[in-house]
Amino acid sequence: DWNMPDYIAEAVQKIRDQVGDEEVILGLSGGVDSSVAAALIHRAIGDQLTCVFVDHGLLRLNEGKLVMEMFAGRLHAKVVHVDATDQFMGHLKGVTDPEQKRKIIGREFVEVFQAEAQKLPNAKWLAQGTIYPDVIESGGAKSKKAHTIKSHHNVGGLPETLGLKLLEPLRDLFKDEVRELGVALGLPHDMVYRHPFPGPGLGVRILGEVRQDFADLLRRADAIFIDELRAADWYDKTSQAFAVFLPVKSVGVMGDGRTYEYVVALRAVQTQDFMTAHWAELPHSLLGKVSNRIINEVRGINRVVYDISGKPPATIEWE
Ligand code: XMP
Repeated sequence: DWNMPDYIAEAVQKIRDQVGDEEVILGLSGGVDSSVAAALIHRAIGDQLTCVFVDHGLLRLNEGKLVMEMFAGRLHAKVVHVDATDQFMGHLKGVTDPEQKRKIIGREFVEVFQAEAQKLPNAKWLAQGTIYPDVIESGGAKSKKAHTIKSHHNVGGLPETLGLKLLEPLRDLFKDEVRELGVALGLPHDMVYRHPFPGPGLGVRILGEVRQDFADLLRRADAIFIDELRAADWYDKTSQAFAVFLPVKSVGVMGDGRTYEYVVALRAVQTQDFMTAHWAELPHSLLGKVSNRIINEVRGINRVVYDISGKPPATIEWE
C-alpha cells in the first residue's frame, strides 16, 4: 500500500533534481502511460516540458481533439500537435502486408517525431512513459511482435540519435499503479482506464491497404461500438474492444434499393495478460443495437459481424 500524495511529492522532487532547469520533450500518444508521464512531469517542471503529439491519421474518433483539450486546454501544458496524416497515408499506399505496414508506421513515426524534436534545440531530455513491465520485457526473451511494439511505443534508438538523456518517471510502476497515479494527478477516469490501443492504430485494423476513406468509416463504426459498450456498462468488463474494417463488399437492401458495401467486424475480448483471451459473451441485444446503429449511421457499411474466436488460435488484432 502506498501513500499517493507522498508518492507524487517524491516523484516530482526527483524529476526536478534530475532535470534542473533543462528542457524536456515527450511523445504524447493519447495512451495511458505517456499521458500519466506527461501529467507527472508537467506537475514537476511545467513549461520546461514540451509534449509532441503525432497524429498519423490512424487514431480513434476525436482522439486528437481530446488529447489537445486535456493537455493543452485543462493542464495548460505545451503541446505541439503534428498532423502527419498525408505523410503516413502516402507511405502506406499500396502496402498490404501487416508487418510491412507496422514497419512503415513505426519508421515514419520516428521520422516525424525526430523532425519536431530538432525544432526544440534547447531540449536535453527525452521523456518516455516506460513502465515496469516494459523494463522487464526488454531484458528478457521477446517475440518479433513484442519487439515491434516496444520499438514503436518507446521510440527506440531516438535518445541516442537526438543526443538526449532519458527521463522515465514511471519505470518502477505497474499498470494499475500508473492508473491510480493518473487519477490522482487529475486525469479523467475514462482516459486512465482506457483499453490498450496499438501504436500502429487503425493501420492494423483496416485489413490490407490502408486508405483514408476506410479509416474514416472505421473510426465512426468503432466509436458507436465503444459508446454502446459504455452505455451498457460492458466497457469495463472487457479488456479490449474495437471494430475492424474488412475491405470486402457484400449485398444488402435499403428501402427499394440494393446496396453493395463493406463489412465491419466487432471484436471484444476478456483477458488477464493479452497472451490468451476469450471472446466476450456480449448480450445479443447489445450486439443488435450496435449493428443497427452502424448500418444506419455509417453509409458505406451494410453488414456487421461479431468475432467469436479465442486467442489462441486467433490473435486479438486481425493483423
Ligand atoms: P495480438 O493481436 O497479438 O495482440 O493478440 C495482443 C495485444 O498487443 C496489441 N498489439 C500491438 N500493440 N503495436 C502495439 O503497440 C502493435 O504492433 C501491436 N500489435 C498488437 C493488441 O492491441 C493487444 O492488446
